[in-house]
Amino acid sequence: MTESEAAVSFKHVSKAFAGGTVISDLNLDIPAHGIFVLVGPSGSGKTTTLKMINGLVVPTGGDVYYAGKRVKDYDLQQLRWRIGYVLQTGALFPNMTVAQNIAVIPEMKHVAPAEIKRTGDELLAAVDLPAADYAARYPSDLSGGEAQRVGIVRALAADPPTILMDEPFSALDPLSRRQLQDLLLSLQAKLHKTIIFVTHDMNEALKMGDHIAIMHEGRIQQVGTPEEIKQSPANQFVADFFAGAGKADPLSAEFEDVVAAGLAARIQELPAAGKFIAGKTALDAGVEQLAAAGQVYVQCADGDYVVTAGAVLQYIARARAQDDNGN
Ligand SMILES: Nc1ncnc2c1ncn2[C@@H]1O[C@H](COP(=O)(O)OP(=O)(O)O)[C@@H](O)[C@H]1O
Ligand SMILES: [Mg+2]
Repeated sequence: MTESEAAVSFKHVSKAFAGGTVISDLNLDIPAHGIFVLVGPSGSGKTTTLKMINGLVVPTGGDVYYAGKRVKDYDLQQLRWRIGYVLQTGALFPNMTVAQNIAVIPEMKHVAPAEIKRTGDELLAAVDLPAADYAARYPSDLSGGEAQRVGIVRALAADPPTILMDEPFSALDPLSRRQLQDLLLSLQAKLHKTIIFVTHDMNEALKMGDHIAIMHEGRIQQVGTPEEIKQSPANQFVADFFAGAGKADPLSAEFEDVVAAGLAARIQELPAAGKFIAGKTALDAGVEQLAAAGQVYVQCADGDYVVTAGAVLQYIARARAQDDNGN
């Protein structure tokens, strides 16, 4: 790949914090107009690598290039206008409405208000959050999945050529995660942005990536297309990491995932007797109570729900069906 084809290049990049070296001699070319996934276990250096692209972390050695020019030679504000950023928890401004959150960067770029609204409304519609219902809401009135959708819209609203996404779907329940993965893929099919996507989940990497780089202890283990990596893992670490990426176990989902999937009925008042379970409990840990009582009362952050054994079975059946459709 020549330098002009690469949107981002790392050349002999290293990064040390007080605790020691976390990135050593990183060399990587990230092509433009595709989804490039950086995948690896927690602590392998993914976030540090991503933040060196938009200047949030400064390398100890070597250089990072964005569009052929060294990151350190950019005016940082100019650079960040060209590079959107989506975090795990949306990171929306809590005191601003959805519309105001979306408008922040375009306003800094002096885009006309009517144009900001038109683009914002269009993007909200594209992520299934009609502006009429959502534009005036505050982040506290959004579900986790909705907040992530707004985070994506906010990153797209300024129309940057490049978007960094750091575990954007990792905090979501399995069904919302799948929906947002599909949504991002369908948006990308139209927009052809350069997306650099970080995840610790190999399944997600394989699904989302045009190219994947697998990272371990601050070093890139292999770069290739999902097919290339599947066919010939470069070393034992890659092979093992790959083997761990089997089908997701639906029993590792939580009771609140069943609620989020719309399979439970909300109740106003908890009864005096019955089985009570916290929403964060794994299905695995609740099956005995469910079998004994036929239904359990699940306490979620937003209220209490009845979850029946049938609802849990339905949830598992749906998760299976989605896996069979190619995850
Ligand atoms: N600001 C920092 N100061 C000291 N150590 C850090 C800092 N940021 C990250 N690290 C360390 O660098 C390593 C890689 O972290 P990170 O890039 O966040 O990994 P990942 O995103 O893959 O989980 C970890 O050991 C982490 O503790
Ligand atoms: Mg990270």
